[in-house]
Amino acid sequence: MSDGTDQDRLLEHNYDGIQEYDNPLPRWWLALFWITIVFSAFYVLYFHFGQGKLAVEAYNEDMIAYYELQAQQLLALGEIKESTLLDLMEDDAMMAGGQALYVSKCTQCHGENGQGNIGPNLTDDYWLHGGKLTDIYHTVTEGVPTKGMLAWKNQLGPAEILSVSAYVGSLRGSNPPDAKAAQGKLEPYDAEATLAAEAAEDAGDTEEQNEAGPDDTDPGPQTEDQG
Ligand code: HEC
Repeated sequence: MSDGTDQDRLLEHNYDGIQEYDNPLPRWWLALFWITIVFSAFYVLYFHFGQGKLAVEAYNEDMIAYYELQAQQLLALGEIKESTLLDLMEDDAMMAGGQALYVSKCTQCHGENGQGNIGPNLTDDYWLHGGKLTDIYHTVTEGVPTKGMLAWKNQLGPAEILSVSAYVGSLRGSNPPDAKAAQGKLEPYDAEATLAAEAAEDAGDTEEQNEAGPDDTDPGPQTEDQG
């Protein structure tokens, strides 16, 4: 492997009959070795002291951008409804985000699996502030400041609150071990009934608007008759 200048050779010294054999590394190998050392110096200067972004920083920036994009899309949907949150529960990316948020922000009070600790159990059918997904979303957003539940709108972005609320919704019925005793009112969740009620309410809203419409334009046909 050696070229003309780097000869393999036996070194002079001899210890108890053991001799050392000098087998120089090939030039190309050494060249690569020196290049990596020079590269590492520039790498450290650029990424740790200069403009460069470390992988973690780049990742965090991307995640923030992702959440902001999600938030814009969600807010574009208008009012947050039961159906919005139910849809989110089907979105793996949002649920993974919600779980990560839950783990970092909520476990100390609600337990790792939502079983309850300082805060109530989030996995049973008993709710202090309502068990619909929109109720959960509202509690998370506004908090219960007098009872030690933070108003997360001050700390989390809109998409984050949505995803963590949907995640809490998904904990329902999971029966974790060491569950805290029930608190609040028994409110078994029926997604279909809740959606139907919401749809009926929405229909009611539009009917009212429709009723108001014709009243305003009623004189129309009369003038036509006269003319
Ligand atoms: C500092 C402790 C603490 C933290 C952190 C906390 N909570 Fe709470 N949470 C509480 C307490 C206490 C209550 C009960 C309030 C009451 O008694 O009215 C509560 C209530 C709730 C409720 C309503 C439960 C019900 O029975 O109606 C929900 C939902 C909830 N928290 C979700 C969350 C989420 C999601 C997070 C993380 C983003 C979170 N909490 C973080 C203490 C906390």
